[in-house]
Amino acid sequence: MASIRDVAKAAGVSLGTVSNAINRPEILAPRTLRKVQKVIEDMGFVPNASARNLRAGRNRVIGLVVPDISNPFFTDLARGVNNAAFAAKYVVILCNTDESSEKESQYLDVLSAQNVEGILITPARETTRALASVTEKGIRLALVDRPALGLQACSVAVNDSYGGSLALTHLYDLGHRSIVLLTGSEDIPQVADRNAGIRETLNEIPASDRPNIIELRLDSMSASNAYSAIMKKLESGIDFTGVICGNDLIALGAIRAFREKNISVPEDVSVIGYDDIDFAGSANVPLTSISQPAYELGYAAAELIISECENPERHVHQRVEFQPRLIVRSSTAPTKSHRATLKIS
Ligand code: RIB
Repeated sequence: MASIRDVAKAAGVSLGTVSNAINRPEILAPRTLRKVQKVIEDMGFVPNASARNLRAGRNRVIGLVVPDISNPFFTDLARGVNNAAFAAKYVVILCNTDESSEKESQYLDVLSAQNVEGILITPARETTRALASVTEKGIRLALVDRPALGLQACSVAVNDSYGGSLALTHLYDLGHRSIVLLTGSEDIPQVADRNAGIRETLNEIPASDRPNIIELRLDSMSASNAYSAIMKKLESGIDFTGVICGNDLIALGAIRAFREKNISVPEDVSVIGYDDIDFAGSANVPLTSISQPAYELGYAAAELIISECENPERHVHQRVEFQPRLIVRSSTAPTKSHRATLKIS
């Protein structure tokens, strides 16, 4: 089997010229390109990965660092990244941090040492300083599901503040005036932004009609933690009619707890999730949720980082923002008193 060196020797050109004839034919003089292509054809040379990536620093590998790959939101996001990378003949190294900033920092070091061409990251916490140190090393970085505030990097995110506002407004319009906010730590930027949107919307409601919010914080945004938190909350009775959940996994855990306590969703309590993962629509009680385009987030972020890898000199950082959408299903309904005013049986 002819090697790239055999081709270069036979064509009387450098290894880099042969690599460019394979990877970037547009930059070669037509006459040189034709000469190399004829030798490749005559020798039956088949480029392998090393030949394709002979250009210094080109390995067509990108890293993806996410906080919780067991959350279907990030599974869909990773699928979008992978499909965009595949289309550009790149491969992806997936790193799951379990929402740990320490693991995140270790993964960034490993990916840098692996000399990946770029890194996509959903930071577990607000880690602008740590990420700035990565970009200062010359590692290309793009944020996904997080705006790149204060960073020289691309980002693709969703307007989480608007998403929080959508969730509260939906329950408010259904008559709910005592609402549990069941979510993770506000160290998680997405949580902080959603809760900020909820608070801003609350402040726009006249104090006389403003819902009371009961905040319950979870150590991690999982169904099991949500189940335990609601079971504990119900020990002191039920002084609420609505639950805004930080994501769909939390909502599914909360609904499990209500069902175990024979509390009907939505007749007794309305529950709204966030993400609109695939399971949301097919849950026992089809979940009302705030939809995030996880796949599209991942695909768009991968296209941006690959564009920067391919044309670093001409690349201009972009900040893409998607808008969340309210998807109403049967886990939310008007309160009993609101049904009476609406004359709904
Ligand atoms: O990682 C916590 C949450 O933030 C996920 O469920 C998803 O909503 C992301 O935006």
